[in-house]
This record gives sequence, C-alpha cells and structure tokens, in this order.
Amino acid sequence: MNIQALINNKVSQALEAAGAPAGSPAAVRQSAKAQFGDYQANGVMGVAKKLGMNPREFAQKVIDCLELDGIAEKVEIAGPGFINIFLDKAWLAARGEEALASERLAVNTDEAQTIVVDYSAPNVAKEMHVGHLRSTIIGDAVVRTLEFLGHNVIRANHLGDWGTQFGMLIANMERKEKQGSDVSMNISDLEGFYRESKVLYDEDEEFGVTARNFVVRLQSGDEYCLEKWRQLVAITLKQNQRNYDRLSVSLTDDNVMGESMYNDMLAPVVADLKEQGLAVESDGATVVFLDEYKNKDGDPMGVIIQKRDGGYLYTTTDIACAKYRYEQLNADRVLYFIDSRQHQHLMMAWSIVRKAGYVPEEVSLEHHAFGMMLGKDGRPFKTRAGGTVRLADLLDEAEERANKLIEEKNPELSAEEKAKIATTVAMAAVKYSDLSKHRTTDYIFDWDNMLAFEGNTAPYMQYAYTRVASIFKRANVELKDLTFPIVINDEKEQALLSKLLQFEEAVQSVAREGQPHLMCTYLFELAGLFSSFYEACPILNAEEAVKQSRLKLALLTANTIKKGLDLLGIETLERM
Ligand code: ARG
Repeated sequence: MNIQALINNKVSQALEAAGAPAGSPAAVRQSAKAQFGDYQANGVMGVAKKLGMNPREFAQKVIDCLELDGIAEKVEIAGPGFINIFLDKAWLAARGEEALASERLAVNTDEAQTIVVDYSAPNVAKEMHVGHLRSTIIGDAVVRTLEFLGHNVIRANHLGDWGTQFGMLIANMERKEKQGSDVSMNISDLEGFYRESKVLYDEDEEFGVTARNFVVRLQSGDEYCLEKWRQLVAITLKQNQRNYDRLSVSLTDDNVMGESMYNDMLAPVVADLKEQGLAVESDGATVVFLDEYKNKDGDPMGVIIQKRDGGYLYTTTDIACAKYRYEQLNADRVLYFIDSRQHQHLMMAWSIVRKAGYVPEEVSLEHHAFGMMLGKDGRPFKTRAGGTVRLADLLDEAEERANKLIEEKNPELSAEEKAKIATTVAMAAVKYSDLSKHRTTDYIFDWDNMLAFEGNTAPYMQYAYTRVASIFKRANVELKDLTFPIVINDEKEQALLSKLLQFEEAVQSVAREGQPHLMCTYLFELAGLFSSFYEACPILNAEEAVKQSRLKLALLTANTIKKGLDLLGIETLERM
C-alpha cells in the first residue's frame, strides 16, 4: 500500500470540504523527524493564503474534515500551519502483517503502461566503457522496478551499429582475410581492431578509397558488405553479453534495436519534414532551423538531418526512432538513459519530433541524464596510460579486490564459497556505488569506498540482509509458526515498521523519476533503523508474544531489503 498516496487523498478531500478550490495540492510528504509524525501535509498554508484566511485556523478546519479514523492516532497543527499526522500503531501493525503475507510485500501494481527504456547502447567494434556501464546499470534497475509495478517494459538497446566507420572496418576485415587470417575468430581485441582500421584509413590512401567504396556498397545493401557487417555486430554482441551476464543485467540479443533498424525510415522522415515545411535546403544539406536555439549570431540554430553527400546523421536516426517507438511500439512513455553531454542532441531531435507531430505531447520523452565517472583525482576515469577503461577489466579488478577482502574477513570458508561471495560482492559493489549516487552529477569512482563494509555501500547492505536473515534462522522458525500478531510497544519498533511500509513509496519514486539512488537511500535508512531497533529491542530472549512480533519485524526487514536490492539488480547472500 502507498500510504503517502492514501493520506494525500484524504487530506485533499478534507481541503475541499474545508472550502479549498478543487485540485488544491495537499502536498503530503514523509516527515523528516519522528517528532513531526509519520507524514506531514504542507499544502494548507498555500491554500489559506489564496483564500485570505489565517493558515492555522484554516488548518484546524481541514483537520475537522479529515477522516483518518483508525489510520491516524494523532493529527496536530505545527508551526505556521503544517499538519502532522501520526499513524495508528494497530493500523500499522495490520499493514505489516499484510506485507509479510505477500510475495510482493503488498505493493500495488500500477495501471499498466507500455514503457520503452533506451539504455546501455554501446557501439559496434568498440569495447564497452565506463559511460556505457552507467547507462546499463541505472537503466536496468529502472527496468526491473517498472516491471515489478506491472508495466509492459520494452528494453531498447540502441546499439551504435551503423555509420561510415563500417567502411574502414570492412576494408580492414577484407585486408586481413587476404593476409590469410580468419577474421571472424580473431577480432577478440575489438578496440585494437578499430584503432588499426582508423590508422590505416588516415594514413593509407588506397585503403581510404576502398573504405569509402564499402560505405556506399553497404548503404545500398550489398550482400558481401552486409555479411561482414553482421559478423562485426555478432562479435560485439557476444562480448557485450559477457559483461551483461557478469553484472546480471537483464539485456539479451533480443533487446537490440540498433541504429541500423531505422535506416529505411530515414529517407521518408526527411521527405516528410521537407513537405511539412520544417526542413529546408541549406548549402546543399537538409536542415531544420529551430527558433528556440540560437547560434553565435543570435539566429535560429540549424540541425542538419541530411548531409550534402546524402548521408544521414545520429539526430535523423533519433527522430525516426522516437516516431517508431510511439507509432509501432505504442509507447506511453519513453525513458532514455544517456550521458548528459547528449542532452542538447536529444532536445533538438525531440523538438523536431513534436513539431512534426510524430509523438503527441501526452507521450513523455524523458532524458534521464547522468554525469561522468571520475577518477580519484577528479578527472575523467582513465587507465594509467590515459586510455578508456575497458569494462571487462574493471570487473576483473573488482573481483580481485573482493577476493582479497573476503580472504581477510572469512579465511575459514571453503574456496568455492569464498569465490562465490567475492564475485557477488564485487559485482554488487560496482553497481551499487553507481546506483547510490544522484545520477545527474559526476561521481568519483573509488575502490576503497565501494568495497567498504560501512556506509551506504553494497557490502554494507548485503551484510545487513545476511545479518537480519540470520536472526530469523537462529530462532529456527518459519513464518507459519508465528501465530502472535505484530504489536508495537516501543518507538523503535514503530519507526522501523513505519519505514518498512514506505517501501512502495520508494519503488514508486524510482519508477517516476528514474533515479535508483532513491531506493538505495531508502534501504540504507531502513538498515539503520533496524540496527537501532535491534539494539533497543531484544528478540530471542523476549517473552513469546513479543519475540514473535519482533521476529516478524525482522523477517519483513529481510524480505524488504532483499526485494529492494533485487529491484536494483543486486544479489544477496545467505552467508557472507
Ligand atoms: N551509442 C550511443 C553512444 O555510445 C548512445 C545511444 C543512446 N541512445 C539513443 N537513442 N541516442 O554514445
């Protein structure tokens, strides 16, 4: 149950009954401090001002109309006219029982929407790098969350699989074949192959001519070129899949909707934009001028959608792509997880999309931008030699470090168990350190921090789960043995339960804002409240009824942490 939504509704009704105009915002939020209750309605003062009434007097009128019988045990006015709401202990306990009895922790499903999520999107013949890591991990966490809420999610891996670079790549494949090497087997070092092709292209004139010729042939659907192109795509996908699998990212080949897919839609889109009078010829190229963007001279900025030589651009593809997602995939909402440097690109493409009427306003196109991953020195994350860090190498290093850590912490475990724990902790650490940061800012990638057992880290959260789960194991009971109900006697119990019941609100906020750190923060706070509860409220030595009630709270905590981490794509361990 979404308690915030419930209270918000009730306060909205009371506002209206007290004379506020329909639709006045109740602005109910979780209270920041226990002394302000569980929830706080902040909307009263704004309405009172509009009505020309004393805010505290108006707040009292709202409270008189507020129907929270059985839900709240106390409602009071605070400060200039806030309404603080203290939930009823018995009501909370009953909600706790519901959550405990439910596989999905009594979280409601939403009215199902079709939501396209554009994420990961690495490029063919290039290694995945840290930028793709962020998009992949954050996108996947949001995908899992949306699916949990019952949405029809379409994963769209907008693979960079088209463009003029394929001319030089195909030319180099052919060159290698002529030298007698079996290319399909041998491009394990894709990045090296790409660099080599580029050097040849820049320095060898004849190679350049061949490469350009291949571009033309590939674009006109020449089977020889297409075959080579398919090989490159297949090799890349195989390498990427290894990264996805290691990270338990839910993408497969079936989710690839690469740039090439939109190829046939580009000419008609350009023709249509011209016909609508949105695109014009300019210096031989086809350009859309956008009034809302000004160039250096203060004139409307031009977005090229077709080059003079007939070639299309990244923007043209994104225009066709948005149109496709609405028309063919029936998207109600499209989320793009792309780094913030591409913001203007997207805004321009979508501005054209809206003007051309390809996607109606009620379908939201959302850029969920993220900042860069920085090294400890605060500069873009690079290898010691200054190159981009291969994702695979990063994951290897994470495993090595986690291995050492587990070796130190748990030398007594079997080698197999240690290896399992180390891999799980390593992948979780890489993911969680990213997910837990506010996505739009740059963040500093710091091994020591992310593998620490203190603070808002993966090891801390995983350990919190293991610890809570083990209390339950030590009691050696199952849920069905717990016949006494949850009863709240201690304020620590109440604080814990109230937080547990805010799980749905955390899930909803991630779905709404595409910000998984909201879930991380929630789980971290939950783990903290559990610790305080556990310190203050003995479980196993308590008398039977209290013991069972507290065991239920512990079990619900374990279930909630597990589910929350699961939605983030983070695995838990029963022992670590
Ligand atoms: N392949 C692009 C890159 O590596 C990201 C594509 C993102 N998606 C999109 N629809 N433009 O930068």
